Amino acid sequence: MCGIIGCVGRGDETLDTLVHGLSKLEYRGYDSAGVALANGSVEVVKRAGELENLRRALNGERDGVSGRVGIGHTRWSTHGPPTDENAHPHRDCTGRVAVVHNGIIENYQELRDELTDAGHEFESETDTEVVPHLIETELAGGADPETAFRSAIERLEGSYAIACVLADDDRVFAAREDSPLVLGIGDDAVYLASDVPAFREFTDKVVYLEDGEFAVLDGEGWSVTDSTGAPVEKAIDTVTWDPEETGKSGYDHYMLKEIHEQPRALRQCVSGRVSELSGEVDLDVDVDPTGVQFVACGTSYHAAVYGAQLFQEAGIPAQAFLGSEYATSPPPIGDDLVVGVTQSGETADTLSALREARRRGAKTLAVTNVVGSTVSRECDDTLYIRAGPEIGVAATKTFSSQVVALTLLVESLRESRRETIAALRDLPASVQTVLDTSKAEEVAEEYVDSDAYFFIGRGMHYPVALEGALKFKEISYEHAEGFAAGELKHGPLALVTENTPVFALVTGEGEQARKTIGNVKEVEARDAPVVAVTDRKSDVARYADHVLEIPESDPRTAAVLANVQLQLVAYYAAAQLGRPIDKPRNLAKSVTVE
Ligand code: AGP
Ligand code: GLU
Repeated sequence: MCGIIGCVGRGDETLDTLVHGLSKLEYRGYDSAGVALANGSVEVVKRAGELENLRRALNGERDGVSGRVGIGHTRWSTHGPPTDENAHPHRDCTGRVAVVHNGIIENYQELRDELTDAGHEFESETDTEVVPHLIETELAGGADPETAFRSAIERLEGSYAIACVLADDDRVFAAREDSPLVLGIGDDAVYLASDVPAFREFTDKVVYLEDGEFAVLDGEGWSVTDSTGAPVEKAIDTVTWDPEETGKSGYDHYMLKEIHEQPRALRQCVSGRVSELSGEVDLDVDVDPTGVQFVACGTSYHAAVYGAQLFQEAGIPAQAFLGSEYATSPPPIGDDLVVGVTQSGETADTLSALREARRRGAKTLAVTNVVGSTVSRECDDTLYIRAGPEIGVAATKTFSSQVVALTLLVESLRESRRETIAALRDLPASVQTVLDTSKAEEVAEEYVDSDAYFFIGRGMHYPVALEGALKFKEISYEHAEGFAAGELKHGPLALVTENTPVFALVTGEGEQARKTIGNVKEVEARDAPVVAVTDRKSDVARYADHVLEIPESDPRTAAVLANVQLQLVAYYAAAQLGRPIDKPRNLAKSVTVE
């Protein structure tokens, strides 16, 4: 998920080139960093925390780190907390092989057990470390380095970009599956990275690797082969953009990039957790609650309200509480499981609610994006949402991943429902359809001068109405409110005028849709512009000035799709208004005060 850099041909500047590359990948978010250089032996230096920690360690050891072939890594932990030991590169037992990896190896436990039984000793908790040991096994069996690398990769299931160096070899080996890798072709050197900025200063010639491809970089140049070993003719592209603009992969803001990363994030959340054959969900989480209390703040609270409905619907009593309110009037806990939903895992209000619950004897579960975060250390168990790092202050992809993780949690507690599992599998493609076809930019443009913006929905669309309004206000600085559609007439309707667009979330054609259409008519009668976010199963479009269409989906996942439209509306409105979208005033990504 984070950064890889590799290079061959930079001579004495190899180490500086790697560290420079890592600094250019910092924007991706990371929690530790390391390098490996090969020169007869493999020297590895790695540190938890900022790149500065690695730089300091390297200054202390500079003379010992002098290889001319090297790889570097910024890690964003998925398996094992961010410690020096878990930082990459990882080595085999002999110290001859060093490997860096982005992604998740789904079958690592099985491989680790097999390797441990065969006498291998592991130094980290990562999934990655199986790779150097697999290569070691192949080398010990007489394979040449390239064959050993290929054979090891063939054993892996999951997503990966992997690069490897060997002590007595002047090549870098690489492979990818569902995680980006790109080669940089310089005059005298060849580079490898998870993103172009890492080497953009040295070359503008690039070769993008595809899933299933292998690359070998050596002093003479580079070659790419497919999974059968056959050479692949690759086109060399020239990148035209400026090295300074690169961090956002061509997007104007991290928020937009992260909105577009949702299909991949959702795939990653489900990957390896649902049996292909039976549809059974296994999350490796030891819970079996009779009742659930969610605690969370902001966007995570909206995901929790959504989650509570999913649980209720499955017959498990559930309620969502704001982290900051929980301790003020604590509900009876009984045997309830208390679930803290927090992207960062560091939100003080959520942590203190969980601590209060624990004080009162509750079992706690963390649902978070950040491995090794405080919440994951303090709770009895953790379910990771695997969305990848989120840099924009506005939470986008992590909301979708939280909802999907909570859906998986519900399904793991009972015999999973076929239609829900199918909907989860289809969701990434449906999100992609929304991203490819959305008219949100036009809608945002048309209403950008309004007095206020209202969002209404029922059932699972209710938390999404709240979320749509939060996203809108936090980045556009315009007044926006979300309401349960039925509540409009109990007060907020007084605010509705021809200059207050109302976004109505309506999917399906059942009772809820019919009632929300009734509420749409109420606002229409007050001349307010209506934007319907709908799958067009009902006739809500008849009463709307604009339609933001979403593909048909299961009722449990439809609101996630509606939310993607609202993320885009908020983004384009804020862009029109020239707001600093990634860093809105007065807000922080992680709020560590109560
Ligand atoms: C939403 O866009 C956020 N800026 C904010 O509401 C956030 O969701 C909240 O602070 C909770 O953060 P957490 O998920 O890291 O706990
Ligand atoms: N799964 C690996 C780990 O936890 C790699 C994480 C990454 O992509 O940085 O170490």
